[in-house]
Amino acid sequence: MQLSRRQFIGLVGALGLGGCAQTRQRIGLGSAKRLTFAAINDVHVLDARSAAIVHRAVQSINANADVAFTVILGDIATAGRLPELKLALASFNRLERPWLAVPGNHDVCTAATNIYSNYLITFERMNWMEEEKGWVFIGIDSCEGAKSDVTVRDWQIDWLADSLERIRRDRPIALFAHHPFNPHSKAYRVQNADEVIGLFAHHNLRLVAAGHYHGNQVEQQDGVLYTTTACCSTTRDNFDNTAAKGYRLFHIEGEGVTTEFVEVPS
Ligand SMILES: [Fe+2]
Ligand SMILES: [Fe+2]
Repeated sequence: MQLSRRQFIGLVGALGLGGCAQTRQRIGLGSAKRLTFAAINDVHVLDARSAAIVHRAVQSINANADVAFTVILGDIATAGRLPELKLALASFNRLERPWLAVPGNHDVCTAATNIYSNYLITFERMNWMEEEKGWVFIGIDSCEGAKSDVTVRDWQIDWLADSLERIRRDRPIALFAHHPFNPHSKAYRVQNADEVIGLFAHHNLRLVAAGHYHGNQVEQQDGVLYTTTACCSTTRDNFDNTAAKGYRLFHIEGEGVTTEFVEVPS
């Protein structure tokens, strides 16, 4: 649903990072107190056959009337090739409600002059900020080229720090990135995760959701819920050797957030 992507007109432009004029808009989710959204990661589309599980996930999300929007947490493609990203885009355009995406290390094309060029053609934005229900939702590109163990780069740190100056300190915040920030992630924790999370020391960070690890990890520390989720791919296995593929639901009520994994048949 191409329109859905454009319904999210974030603050990137307003913060001086966007290439086109953008205005501050709300997602527009009505007035219900409870908010549910989905997060899906590591679909690793390679060809039309491998997009089938993404179609099933999209059908599952569409069938759940509670899901207000979906966040795609990177590794959409296999090697950042344009045909892969276009196939995935066609699948995600079937989502009937708005969606947002951040890139993963398999979405950059290391053979290109601008390694993000294919991703930007298809998914348009690497960083974004949205607000709804009193919450602020921030998506960042955590990639460091195609590396698996990454350090969030200085300019992203600066962008986050500048952005946080414009956010009221009591507003609950959810942060989304491809690479894990879970304090006890079994692998691939962002190498400067403490520095990044430290930026939120005087704000109300409540959730950090990521992919990349291909496994379900949920933990809470200092009032922040950290998650990684199994991949939703038939071209890749989970790193923790579990078989279930799927996506994650988050339920927000006030400043509280709970989560559940939803399996998708592979
Ligand atoms: Fe992945
Ligand atoms: Fe990854």
